[in-house]
Amino acid sequence: MTIDIAETTSDASLTKSLERSAEIERQIAVDPSGFRILTGDRPTGRLHIGHYFGSLSNRVRLQGLGVTSFLLIADYQVIYDRDGVGELKDNVLNCLADYLAIGIDPAQTTIFAHSNVPALNQLVLPFLALTTDSELRRNPTVKDELASSNRPMSGLMLTFPVHQAADILFCKANLVPVGKDQLPHLELTRQIARRFDERYGRANPKQPVFPQADALLSEVPLLLGMDGSKMSKSKGNTIELGMDADTTAKLIKRAKTDADSHISYDPEARPEVSNLVLLAALCLGRSPEDVAEELGDAGGGGLKKLVTEAVNETFAPVRARRTELLADPGALWGILHEGNARANEVADATLKDVLTAMKMDY
Ligand code: TRP
Repeated sequence: MTIDIAETTSDASLTKSLERSAEIERQIAVDPSGFRILTGDRPTGRLHIGHYFGSLSNRVRLQGLGVTSFLLIADYQVIYDRDGVGELKDNVLNCLADYLAIGIDPAQTTIFAHSNVPALNQLVLPFLALTTDSELRRNPTVKDELASSNRPMSGLMLTFPVHQAADILFCKANLVPVGKDQLPHLELTRQIARRFDERYGRANPKQPVFPQADALLSEVPLLLGMDGSKMSKSKGNTIELGMDADTTAKLIKRAKTDADSHISYDPEARPEVSNLVLLAALCLGRSPEDVAEELGDAGGGGLKKLVTEAVNETFAPVRARRTELLADPGALWGILHEGNARANEVADATLKDVLTAMKMDY
């Protein structure tokens, strides 16, 4: 199951980031009190099992180790590449239910939304003045969007890495669990923090306004969608956390396999079969090689039967808890309101530090 992400690229800075992440993991295990984490999701649809195994379960793990965490529902990021908000409110409510159902504890983790924390958003203004147009256009995500999208890029899309810096720095987070595609955003966040202090914070160089945030890279299993392409909300090939057992069974039944009835784990040669093996392995907490060996000549049918049982059993308690939570939307909104209030306190204090450093403390 361990996919060595260092293997896929020879980039020396990636190796360094991985080493740094391993060192941070060791420090957290000894004393989590020096760390503050920010993570977030765009509420453009429902959370799915790819999110679960890719990032949500890691957040619950870190919470369990006692790290203070902020969890952002990035609603202002929904509109950077689309014309409307879609089912935004429903997505946010479901997102809250998913978080709580998988074990995020609002007493330990502050869950909040962009739109409800004005001081966070205000940080974007001074941060924009510290960032150049060419830096933004060089950002890989922005560049991809520019190259692949057939719509004109919005100013919000162009500047979203700066907004993400505000997401991280408003709460002075020093740790951001990410995939390697997010490393350039983190680098920009560190630059903004450094430049802010160079430009305005010289009065007290020993105590910078903002910390230098580290990425916490983990070895993330890459799950494909049931059609064998990237698992993505927009492709409709996901198994959502909230789907019922029958819908899950139908989706897995339709999943692509191949003609060889001997099951093996070989992601390069047999991506679809291996993806199903990996999914079963993740649910069962076993290695995919082990699962493949046990299945032997079970064929596509046997494989799908095992995957369906494993997914449905793993997520049955989460689904039951979700249904319970969604029966009382008022309580879910209440949890968001409490998180927003806490995030506002933190953001207001940071904005005060910023305005003081900028001599705008009238
Ligand atoms: N862009 C992230 C996503 O699509 C969500 C996000 C918003 C985020 N702000 C962030 C992640 C800051 C890390 C840090 O999932």
